[in-house]
Amino acid sequence: LLGDYDHYMLKEMFEQPARLEDTVAYPALSDALFGDQAAEVFPAVSAVQIIACGTSYHAGLVARHWIESIAGLPCQVEVASEYRYRQSVTLANTLIVSISQSGETADTLAALKNCDRANVLARLAICNVDHSAIVRESELVFLTRAGAEIGVASTKAFTTQLAALLILTERLATHHRPDQFDAAPVAAALKDMPSAVARVLSHSDKIAALTPQFVTKHHALFLGRGIYHPIAMEGALKLKEISYIHAEAYPAGELKHGPLALVDSDMPVVAVAPNDELLEKLRSNLEEVKARGGQLFVFADEAAGFKPGPGIEVIPMPHCSELVGPVVYTVALQLLSYHVAVGKGTDVDKPRNLAKSVTVE
Ligand code: M6R
Repeated sequence: LLGDYDHYMLKEMFEQPARLEDTVAYPALSDALFGDQAAEVFPAVSAVQIIACGTSYHAGLVARHWIESIAGLPCQVEVASEYRYRQSVTLANTLIVSISQSGETADTLAALKNCDRANVLARLAICNVDHSAIVRESELVFLTRAGAEIGVASTKAFTTQLAALLILTERLATHHRPDQFDAAPVAAALKDMPSAVARVLSHSDKIAALTPQFVTKHHALFLGRGIYHPIAMEGALKLKEISYIHAEAYPAGELKHGPLALVDSDMPVVAVAPNDELLEKLRSNLEEVKARGGQLFVFADEAAGFKPGPGIEVIPMPHCSELVGPVVYTVALQLLSYHVAVGKGTDVDKPRNLAKSVTVE
């Protein structure tokens, strides 16, 4: 089953171009991809509430940026373990979107079962397993086509969730911003994702070369801004999950409100630096890190103009469109955590204390 790969996680990362291609392989984007009721539900949605756990929650945080900025609908995202017990206020005509690789996560399922049905228009599951409990509990379904994911650390499930959420955004925008919405960039992004991911995967050796600078460390900070903050969160989760290095993610603008105090030469700081409208803000945040002796690892768009030097390693990333970027940078951070974990000799596919599917609270 493993073929030429040392670990399932590595195999699953390298499957991503093909799995993404499969997930978006529809002759045309249509409401029907989400089930028979979608054509009636989508035009009536006034708000979106996403619930999920772990990596799937991070996919939801990325989707919030898309749903609000592209479809113009208010979107909340919450970890299911909190949402299920909180007395939240559900706006009228809310579409509940649950995201889950396994479809069996106890907290997500409970949140779905206990949501405020009076204001919920419908529940949509974005899931990798057909006939799972979460799929059975939902009126609408979009199945990602990641294939079976064996490694406890979620990789291909996450990137295919992002593709699915971009398709959902396209559908909502088509109904809710009919005059302003241009579907062409979304269609182009979905088409480009597989090859963009393949390009990042070809940088695996370069990323592996960073390993010695992480294996002796006990902590790491991940920084990103805007839609890249959840990507930084996902990078930090992956690193802690499989290498057991304590990692935290911050929106870079928060640095001076506390975490900057942690920065010294023992603290690797990983920054996600695409060439977007927040780049200059991020650049000045990173200057602050450098001035305090922090070791920077900047995953930067080739066009962003970061120069390597003392205290700063630059990992050049292929230039890609705004909508493809979150997927591309995620894959780079997956590779980083994988190589560091291998360097530390941990059980990459079955990290200690964790289960693939969390079916109990
Ligand atoms: O199956 P689910 O997507 O519902 O699982 C949610 C989390 O348990 C899962 O994403 C977990 O965080 C991963 N092990 C992270 O790599």
